[in-house]
Amino acid sequence: MKLGIILGSTRVKSNTAGVVAHVVTLLSSHPDFDTLELEIINLATSSGHPLPLLIEDTLPQAHSPSSLPSVYSDPLIRSWSSTVLSWDGVLIISPQYNWGVPAPLKNALDHLFHEWVAKPVGLITLGGRGGTKVEASLRSILGGGLDMRVAEKGVQVAMPREWIAGSEVLKGGEETLQRYDEAILECVREIVNLVKCKDEASPRTSPECMPLQE
Ligand SMILES: Cc1cc2nc3c(=O)[nH]c(=O)nc-3n(C[C@H](O)[C@H](O)[C@H](O)COP(=O)(O)O)c2cc1C
Repeated sequence: MKLGIILGSTRVKSNTAGVVAHVVTLLSSHPDFDTLELEIINLATSSGHPLPLLIEDTLPQAHSPSSLPSVYSDPLIRSWSSTVLSWDGVLIISPQYNWGVPAPLKNALDHLFHEWVAKPVGLITLGGRGGTKVEASLRSILGGGLDMRVAEKGVQVAMPREWIAGSEVLKGGEETLQRYDEAILECVREIVNLVKCKDEASPRTSPECMPLQE
């Protein structure tokens, strides 16, 4: 199973990058996720990025799913499309910017459509109060606009002031982050469960495919 991890931040000194490092270490050392392949996307520096601002004349929604990824005229969008098509699920790790979604992340989402539809996705958000507003916004974009299957249990990383305003950024492994380990594992378990259930005949009625309960 292949999980794409998208960073919402493109800043060089980024707290999000520290959270991603923490999550990768946690998943890589956990027996439940032995077979999980991770692909990390930094929207500024990963191969095929940065993407242009939305420029294609034909709406991504208007393409036939069978025409992907070759239908895109821009090779960067073709590459982004085939990357997302290769994922079984997605984990978005994003800070909150001015109560909303960082622009590079929204741009990366808007370039594609059918690639996202029905794909399981989980959310880890960061902010002074855990990024609850960006989480709510992403739930609406992903679950509504893009018709993705959004894991019910998100993780809200409430960042102490020294990490927001200080000169140092999170690197991963800090006690501040270890407090979220169980919640992170739960969120990824839910994504994996949604992937497993995606192709089943009656995913909504099969007991093992019901959303995780409290
Ligand atoms: C443009 C911008 C807007 C921000 N807006 C918010 C906000 O609405 N709420 C919040 O809690 N923090 C906000 N912050 C602080 C971020 O949570 C903090 O800078 C965090 O480290 C950003 O993640 P990054 O370092 O990976 O970019 C903002 C930061 C930036 C750069």
